[in-house]
Amino acid sequence: MIINSITCIGAGYVGGPTMAVIARNCPDIKVTVVDVNEQRIADWNDSNLDNLPVYEPGLKEVVAEARGRNLFFSTDIDAAISEAQMIFISVNTPTKTYGTGKGMAADLKFVELVARKIAEVAASDKIVVEKSTLPVRTAQAIRSILDNTGSGVKFQILSNPEFLAEGTAVNDLQHADRVLIGGDHHTAPGKEAMDALAAIYGRWIPRERILLTNVWSSELSKLTANAFLAQRVSSINAISSLCEQTGADVDEVAAAIGADNRIGPRFLKASVGFGGSCFQKDILNLVYICRSLNLHEVAEYWEQVVKMNDYQKQRFARNIISRLYNTVSGKKIAFLGWAFKKDTNDTRETPAMYVAAALLDDRAEIHIYDPKVSQERIYGDLRNLIAQNQLTIDPAQLPDLVKVCKKPYDACRNAHAIAVLTEWDEFKGYDWQQIYNDMFKPAFIFDGRNILDIEVLKDIGFQTYQIGK
Ligand code: NAD
Ligand code: UDX
Repeated sequence: MIINSITCIGAGYVGGPTMAVIARNCPDIKVTVVDVNEQRIADWNDSNLDNLPVYEPGLKEVVAEARGRNLFFSTDIDAAISEAQMIFISVNTPTKTYGTGKGMAADLKFVELVARKIAEVAASDKIVVEKSTLPVRTAQAIRSILDNTGSGVKFQILSNPEFLAEGTAVNDLQHADRVLIGGDHHTAPGKEAMDALAAIYGRWIPRERILLTNVWSSELSKLTANAFLAQRVSSINAISSLCEQTGADVDEVAAAIGADNRIGPRFLKASVGFGGSCFQKDILNLVYICRSLNLHEVAEYWEQVVKMNDYQKQRFARNIISRLYNTVSGKKIAFLGWAFKKDTNDTRETPAMYVAAALLDDRAEIHIYDPKVSQERIYGDLRNLIAQNQLTIDPAQLPDLVKVCKKPYDACRNAHAIAVLTEWDEFKGYDWQQIYNDMFKPAFIFDGRNILDIEVLKDIGFQTYQIGK
């Protein structure tokens, strides 16, 4: 089967970059990305490539090459479904905020809506590819919706989870460690669909890196990969608090254990905690599935990874308060960074907002600088926390208590303390002497990412705190 027309439903952090890279590598395949969010599609079509809705290094170059040639962004979902041979579902699957499974299970309403839309519109056979991260056995739910349309149209359902990390998405997609394709390889049409998708990736990914499995293994592998990665971060963060009490240095410990080939050096960077749209959501979903299957010990094991992460974020905030003489009331704290990691404008589950909430509860005033995150988004994050009762200030007070600055030096001027929340490279090159001169004394700096040269800062006169030192 030769595929020459692909549609992706969902133009977010995964749908946009993933399809842009497919379009770049397969100029003969028409790739259409659709979304219900009109503004998002308008932003993907913006002639100024600095206005794309997703910031990723290298992304605008890929979009510039393919957009209008074989890559299209549109709100006409019906037309895109009709003309595609292969449809990727790449909509969001957030943690449920209501009803059964609230706070734990993945909310599949958007996936279900898309499946029903495909069932309603499709007039010819399609391969439907789950790109969203989904609980094990979701393909079965999609299949039951698609198999009962009565239209005679036949669907093959594949699982093709995405492993890209934000901030390195383009590189991760272009040079994937592996591509996972789950399908029904015991039937001829199932095998044919898997081969068709493998052939697309095979244009730029070496064949031995394209793994074919059954659908359930593929779905579970995605949750497991994120759980393992997050577990490494929580493990080193757990050790970081022990280091602070014993005089060990967490970066030295990480280097020492990471030198063991069996452990490896990556994902051992102690931090203020992990954020992002995936780790917490996917682990909670795994925990929920285990509980539903009466695997309580397994559920508790994984839940601890999230609890350790919450502890790490709160510990960082408590440290700021206690070192500033047990209160930050009326004090100005500068935040360097708001994104959940460097090189992205994504702020979902960013540790920065939880640290901010703890400090605002203690009546601090926060001035934030982030090179890629807008004021609108920062206020949106904090308003969400207020709506979820995780922050107890009057929303009307937000503009007084939280200022978003366009320049880092403005955020730090007259501050009592600086907290580094994101590991943006540019922070390392600032004129720290000038920043120190403009601050209240004693001037405190809390490096939640261990990126600054702490000896230089100490020599200038800063009171310093690093994670796990
Ligand atoms: P996102 O919120 O950035 O994008 C999802 C998009 O889907 C939104 O633009 C939304 O408007 C659109 N959408 C929702 N319902 C729709 C509908 N019925 N019809 C058309 N469009 C609809 O989310 P994301 O970060 O791109 O994540 C998508 C999926 O990929 C999730 O399941 C996530 O867990 C998974 N994933 C994310 C990452 C990541 O780094 N962000 C990595 C791997 C996997
Ligand atoms: C993650 C997975 O890495 C990716 O494979 C999956 O597809 C989506 O989820 P992402 O959340 O985009 O990707 O970024 P990642 O690099 O994994 O970082 C997640 C969080 O962990 C960030 O807040 C990061 O700062 C933190 N982290 C990561 C650490 O604190 N220490 C580390 O050593 C690594």
